[in-house]
Amino acid sequence: MATKEYTMAEVKQHIDSKSSWFVIHNSVYDVTAFLNEHPGGEEVLLEQAGRNASEAFEDVGHSSDAREMMLKYKVGELVESERQPVNEKGPHSWSNESADQNNGGSSWTSWLIPVTLGLLATILYRFYVSSAQASH
Ligand code: HEM
Repeated sequence: MATKEYTMAEVKQHIDSKSSWFVIHNSVYDVTAFLNEHPGGEEVLLEQAGRNASEAFEDVGHSSDAREMMLKYKVGELVESERQPVNEKGPHSWSNESADQNNGGSSWTSWLIPVTLGLLATILYRFYVSSAQASH
């Protein structure tokens, strides 16, 4: 069966406890039946109803259990023209960590440059002083 597609305007029509939908990473979720069961409470879900809740969802740092649970409430996807780039953390975050390690590597070379420049300046200064003395 083909995945159903919705627009943001359609999602915005489900913003209360009778019917609450939101979008996480371009997927549309109907969490009406989940409101009472959400460990984080129904208020936070209702606050996100009718919106793109991706950032709020990721900010909480939901577990992989939570991510699996979501699948049950998925009703479709956003239409192609309204999709946004997904910036997912969570289960794949280790790949971000390795990127951080690379950054750590580059910061090591970034202090090497000023130190080398400092050494160079010292050598030049000494050279200047000794040649100034020699000319007297
Ligand atoms: C279908 C979507 C969602 C599912 C299945 C879900 C599921 C869960 C689960 C299982 C937990 C318990 C902790 C964990 O396992 O990570 C949790 C906690 C929580 N969730 Fe959600 N959640 C959803 C969407 C959201 C959204 C959109 C928000 C918006 C802010 C939210 C806010 C929270 C908060 C604040 C907690 C409590 C965290 C804590 O006590 O440390 N959740 N959620």
